[in-house]
Amino acid sequence: MPREIITIQAGQCGNSIGSQFWQQLCLEHGISQDGNLEDFATEGGDRKDVFFYQSDDTRYIPRAILLDLEPRVIHGIQTGPYKNIYNPENFHVPKDGGGAGNIWALGFNAGENVYEEVMEMLDREADGSDSLEAFMLLHSIAGGTGSGLGSFLLEKLNDRFPKKLIQTYSVFPDMANGGEVVVQPYNSLLALRRLTQNADSVVVLDNGALTRIAADRLHVQEPSLTQTNQLVSTVMCASTTTLRYPGYMHNDLVGIIASLIPTPKCHFLMTSYTPFTSDSVNQGKTVRKTTVLDVMRRLLQPKNRMVSAMPTKQSCYISILNIIQGEADPTDVHKSLLRIRERKLATFIPWGPASIQVALTKKSPYIPMSHRVSGLMLANHTSVATLFERLLKQYNVLRKRGAFLEQYKKVSPFTDSLDEFDESKAVVQDLIAEYKAAEQKDYLSPEDMGEGHA
Ligand code: GTP
Repeated sequence: MPREIITIQAGQCGNSIGSQFWQQLCLEHGISQDGNLEDFATEGGDRKDVFFYQSDDTRYIPRAILLDLEPRVIHGIQTGPYKNIYNPENFHVPKDGGGAGNIWALGFNAGENVYEEVMEMLDREADGSDSLEAFMLLHSIAGGTGSGLGSFLLEKLNDRFPKKLIQTYSVFPDMANGGEVVVQPYNSLLALRRLTQNADSVVVLDNGALTRIAADRLHVQEPSLTQTNQLVSTVMCASTTTLRYPGYMHNDLVGIIASLIPTPKCHFLMTSYTPFTSDSVNQGKTVRKTTVLDVMRRLLQPKNRMVSAMPTKQSCYISILNIIQGEADPTDVHKSLLRIRERKLATFIPWGPASIQVALTKKSPYIPMSHRVSGLMLANHTSVATLFERLLKQYNVLRKRGAFLEQYKKVSPFTDSLDEFDESKAVVQDLIAEYKAAEQKDYLSPEDMGEGHA
């Protein structure tokens, strides 16, 4: 039975990434731009129904809901080459809306106005699934819509569908260069609270790391958004291959989450992917030779991580899942794991099993691959907390100056007080402390258990 996933894309970034993701899924499953199965797509063995359903005329339709408060990006999707695959009832976009003006509070408040409409879409999609497993939110946390409306939806999804998993792909801003949104520390902090409290698993990507990877891997100094979004959609597609081409293990999301997230609070995951070739990204490089060991070693290199976290002396892996695609043999995997262990290429937490889990999966038969093996690492690493620390620091600077608060004070929950900021800050401080605690040997010791670590 399929374990369906409903995707919600919110805001400019969420919708841009989402449209790239659906394009790539269509290519991988041999689905045409109109949703029909291509004549050559006869291999079977894939589970298209996790992400798509079939209409009465057998066209494949994404289980996707597209939301924005300004029309530009969604309008682009509605007039683009894949315009016909989406269910036209699943768009919410005001004709002439001006967006949330990069203010989290405006996006959050807009949630109340769209609540009925969006819940109707979600209920309809949920009722159309046999065995709905999860919701997947795609958004950025720096602006107003993806961040604010995204936060609102995370809270409401939890209330309405308490038994379903919530996973997000959350794009953090480039914090090194100040980013393009001056109030991004406010928006990000407020969204991070909901990601901490309302999501089961958050795949963290940040625009600083994405730009760096584009420069290093693709040799493009100023990558286009299409290119960075192709990096993201490659990661999204790879991280869902075990769901779409199921094997014995990791064939539903709960299996993946259970193996990566041993304690519920530490649920922020990093990714690495290699190699980025022109099969998946415009101007990707050609590679001469890939072996399983090469791929697994590269996945562990900090420079390949799509998150600008700064490893510290204490930071360590809580868990790793490598998804290897292509011509890989279990004996190659076994040998590579031994080599990685001998060379101590990965440091694990002192309180749990120190092992890299590996899933070998099929690759789409419809996309020619110029390299033998590719790999994605999904990792739970304590250094992700350094990203939150930097965010908190930038928030503290802005808040101390009382800068740009006027826009927030105009709408709830800020009209009477700024408590929402203080509460969010406390949640993020707790989260950072949790990751610090997870670096210690006694993290799961009985006296700590009562304090909510596990
Ligand atoms: P409003 O514009 O306030 O309505 O909210 P929004 O959610 O639509 O804003 P947006 O998604 O543009 O959020 C701003 C953040 O997202 C900034 O950090 C941008 O750099 C980033 N961003 C915007 N579009 C993209 C994209 O297509 N790809 C990536 N990787 N980042 C994006």
